[in-house]
Amino acid sequence: MLKFNKKTIYETLGREPVHPFPARMAPGIALQVIAEAKKPLRILDPMMGSGTVVALARAKGHRAVGVDIDPLAVLISKAWTSAVDAEAARSKAREVLTRARRIFCSLVQRDAYPHGADPETRQFIAYWFDGYARRQLAALSLAIGGVRNELTRNILLCAL
Ligand SMILES: C[S@@+](CC[C@H](N)C(=O)[O-])C[C@H]1O[C@@H](n2cnc3c(N)ncnc32)[C@H](O)[C@@H]1O
Repeated sequence: MLKFNKKTIYETLGREPVHPFPARMAPGIALQVIAEAKKPLRILDPMMGSGTVVALARAKGHRAVGVDIDPLAVLISKAWTSAVDAEAARSKAREVLTRARRIFCSLVQRDAYPHGADPETRQFIAYWFDGYARRQLAALSLAIGGVRNELTRNILLCAL
């Protein structure tokens, strides 16, 4: 019988995942396979979700590549599996917040939707978020969209 490593992601990687994601791979299963490797592996996860396998494989010194059909999964995976300068990211987050507050003041409710949202999307969003919350979210989203560095932008989008 296979005995799975029961360590949590935090115990294994020394950090928590950057964002919740449904149906995440149990880290013990990936670790079990990786632990048996006698030399560095090249690992492909063709349905990487939020990137558990990719993150664990890289942490253990293997080369790992992942793809996913879901853009949110790709965004979270990129943020989770990249080296980040935490202080630089915090500093950019403060700048973004200042910019978002300015945008919020000039944003009217009828414009407080994601850029290019179709009528069905607008209806869905208006059902779940009142006008004030939509203005806050749209202002944050616009401010984050102005961040040039892709990794920093991804991290801030995960936070949003
Ligand atoms: C259970 S999650 C994968 C968990 C992941 N392997 C991990 O390490 O945490 C399943 C993923 O498969 C992705 N998926 C489903 N159909 C796909 C397809 N045709 N091509 C690429 N990804 C797909 C979904 O978007 C979802 O993120």
